[in-house]
Amino acid sequence: MSALPARRRAASLTEMVEYVLPQHANVAGTVFGGQIMAWVDLCAAICAQRHAGRPCVTAFVDDILFKRPVRVGQVVRLRAELIATFRTSMEIDVSVTGEDTLTGEQWPTLEARVVFVAMDDDRKPAPVPPLLLETPEDHRAQAAAEERRKARLAKR
Ligand SMILES: CC(C)(COP(=O)(O)OP(=O)(O)OC[C@H]1O[C@@H](n2cnc3c(N)ncnc32)[C@H](O)[C@@H]1OP(=O)(O)O)[C@@H](O)C(=O)NCCC(=O)NCCS
Repeated sequence: MSALPARRRAASLTEMVEYVLPQHANVAGTVFGGQIMAWVDLCAAICAQRHAGRPCVTAFVDDILFKRPVRVGQVVRLRAELIATFRTSMEIDVSVTGEDTLTGEQWPTLEARVVFVAMDDDRKPAPVPPLLLETPEDHRAQAAAEERRKARLAKR
């Protein structure tokens, strides 16, 4: 049981919008996968640090599926949401949507799940506040994340 007070999910919810410029794209004019992954990492890091109140590092990135590309001149929208907390680590979901600002069309581009670890002043893992679990769905999500955590740690 953590001594830190629980924090609401809404307090760390993080949204970012990126305009795709030529330097973000390959020769086909679609955004590099690595560029989207960098934005995913940034968005999740902000979410983790908002929750933990400490610097956080990326510990694990689950499988990433690129569903549909985003082109130069279109927009990438990212949304990072805390799913579960453990002792010093947090599981965060990031959803990425493409948007054409001229037509208003939006489409799912990518879903990613990442684990961040909070760091103390000596760069050692530090306890994080628990996520406030308010609904049965929140409790189910935490329990499912516990199972994924076991599977990730088994791969070490
Ligand atoms: C992530 C890191 C801090 C873990 O350090 P460690 O010495 O293994 O520390 P611990 O064993 O005490 O684990 C600390 C936390 O990380 C979690 N963790 C470690 N490896 C993990 C993995 N592969 N997947 C998920 N969580 C992991 C542990 O479960 C623990 O969380 P918990 O306290 O909530 O259970 C360390 O491996 C590291 O610094 N990695 C590099 C991070 C980095 O440079 N990221 C990219 C730049 S930001």
